[in-house]
Amino acid sequence: MVSGGCVGTEGGAEPEDAAAAAGAEEVAAAAATAPARARELVVGYALTSKKAKSFLQPKLRGLARKKGIQFVAIDQKLPLSDQGPFDVILHKLTGKEWQRRLEEYRDTHPEVTVLDPPGAIEHLLNRQSMLQEVSKLDLADCHGKVGVPKQLFVNTDPLSIPAAVMRAGLSLPLVAKPLVAKSHELSLAYDSASLTKLEPPLVLQEFVNHGGVLFKVYIVGDAIRVVRRFSLPNVDEGDLSNNAGVFRFPRVSCAAATAEDADLDPHVAELPPRPLLEILARELRRRLGLRLFNIDMIREHGTRDRFYVIDMNYFPGYGKMPGYEHVFTDFLLSLDQQKEYKRRLGYTSGEG
Ligand SMILES: Nc1ncnc2c1ncn2[C@@H]1O[C@H](COP(=O)(O)OP(=O)(O)O)[C@@H](O)[C@H]1O
Ligand SMILES: [Mg+2]
Repeated sequence: MVSGGCVGTEGGAEPEDAAAAAGAEEVAAAAATAPARARELVVGYALTSKKAKSFLQPKLRGLARKKGIQFVAIDQKLPLSDQGPFDVILHKLTGKEWQRRLEEYRDTHPEVTVLDPPGAIEHLLNRQSMLQEVSKLDLADCHGKVGVPKQLFVNTDPLSIPAAVMRAGLSLPLVAKPLVAKSHELSLAYDSASLTKLEPPLVLQEFVNHGGVLFKVYIVGDAIRVVRRFSLPNVDEGDLSNNAGVFRFPRVSCAAATAEDADLDPHVAELPPRPLLEILARELRRRLGLRLFNIDMIREHGTRDRFYVIDMNYFPGYGKMPGYEHVFTDFLLSLDQQKEYKRRLGYTSGEG
């Protein structure tokens, strides 16, 4: 039985989980009263130049400096052990060689918090594995229901896709997403015949009408922030019978404008309930072993509490998250305080 249920997780956790949770609370409470650090907290970062620019905005650097946090670029050409010393490493680079180096560094430097473990990040790089943990959750009685749209992984001859879709019981229209999540070349297929024009490997996902608004849920450790973004409009019966073919919508997610100030139907705009987001984030953090990610969520049009997770990303564009400089600096300091407290208690591992 999966222990993702609202009631089950709150009240009936496994004994070890309960003990771990109690320990974590104790550490967090003590960390809040821990003395300020005597020296700067050094955060090494390994990000592409584009990511570094959008993340390390002057407002983050400025606030970090005031709070005693220093960001240092990691030179990928040099061994990690020759750099630093670091307290924390933030990274979003892929590639087997980088992964291997980082894993080796984690083993030899347990005192450094690596955000996040490369193996855990891999789950989110592939659209087939990305939503697996969400689909295993059983969030009944959590002020709403969260699921994943029906989906199918296809890696066969395109001519056999219509039959595979029929066998799997998926309804049109379908969103076709490249298997590797790095690619944002998505398309919408309205009719069965056009499915043969798609290029596997891909994931086909049922399109869920959601009133054109998407909720971007940002997670930074224990902190959750949610914003509205414009999304694809509803598809109706008329669209289905009048359209044939594959409609490409490249990089729709990157271009999507904020919908925070728009004059929206309140039923569409209402944010997902906080308790639902809290438990969803907590469960995914625990199951995925990640602390920095986001969830793209939509509400099924015409319902109040039926939600779907359609996408997740590791280390998303936090620069667009309101107040991210406060959330991040608080998070980095809390990691360090927890570590210091654990050290004083005699824990050996450096992971926060
Ligand atoms: N199953 C779906 N139902 C309705 N709209 C969807 C669905 N999947 C994706 N979309 C729309 O397409 C956009 C991009 O899809 P997403 O899976 O988030 O890919 P990306 O990796 O490009 O962010 C979403 O922001 C949403 O507007
Ligand atoms: Mg997305």
